[in-house]
Amino acid sequence: MTNKLKYFVGNWKMFGDISSFKIIQQINKYIHESKKANNKKVIICIPNTLIHFFKKKLKSKHISLGAQNCYHEEGFGPYTGSVSASMLKKVGAEYVILGHSENRMTGDTDIIIKRKIISSIKQKLIIIFCIGETLKQKKRKQTFAVLKRQLKNSLYKNLDKRRLIIAYEPVWSIGTNKILNKKELKKIFIYLKINLKKILKTQKVPKVLYGGSVNSKNINILSSIKEIDGFLIGGASQSAKKFIDIMKNYYK
Ligand code: PGA
Repeated sequence: MTNKLKYFVGNWKMFGDISSFKIIQQINKYIHESKKANNKKVIICIPNTLIHFFKKKLKSKHISLGAQNCYHEEGFGPYTGSVSASMLKKVGAEYVILGHSENRMTGDTDIIIKRKIISSIKQKLIIIFCIGETLKQKKRKQTFAVLKRQLKNSLYKNLDKRRLIIAYEPVWSIGTNKILNKKELKKIFIYLKINLKKILKTQKVPKVLYGGSVNSKNINILSSIKEIDGFLIGGASQSAKKFIDIMKNYYK
């Protein structure tokens, strides 16, 4: 069930300017010097304003760049302020986060997210598709039903599975320093993998990452859950030291 290569994905959110390239350089230096460089896949999802500049400067086979969202319409069009998947691809994004709860909160529905997935796959981007329950849903014991609904409504049968990564991010865990205990997390990851097999009609399940308050301390617990294929790291990815410490402690 477990795939060996571990993903460390940074989600910078609304953070960063041209000078923030030094964070990427420091992370790159660490990976380059680490003995286990081939065990990890590092992807940093940055604001659209930085993708082209970072892509040109980044001479590294260790780090890939991604965007954090795209518009659901394709190509060009009369959508003020919006950026399509093809526009992201052209400036050098290889990955795109879709369905993040911060975007769901401002209007992204399962159906809109599905359209974003379709247009991003057409552009040969790799999707990091976020799902997760709110605190209210958790308290009502709806976690499994919510996750299943989110997967079913946005994924589809003939989707190119090689271009899909799932990120389980409990909404109540994002930026709060609260995480589920090991037993609960394990149960959810097993549930997700079983359902992904069914929904995508495949034996080869996509990677499933965990996101929500990942830091250099709780990574010790998280690393003991073999069903977790990697991490989507928000706040801590805005600091090279914090991001590197997470990787260091993971492999301790
Ligand atoms: P966090 O964010 O690590 O700051 O909790 C995770 C995310 O929003 O992807």
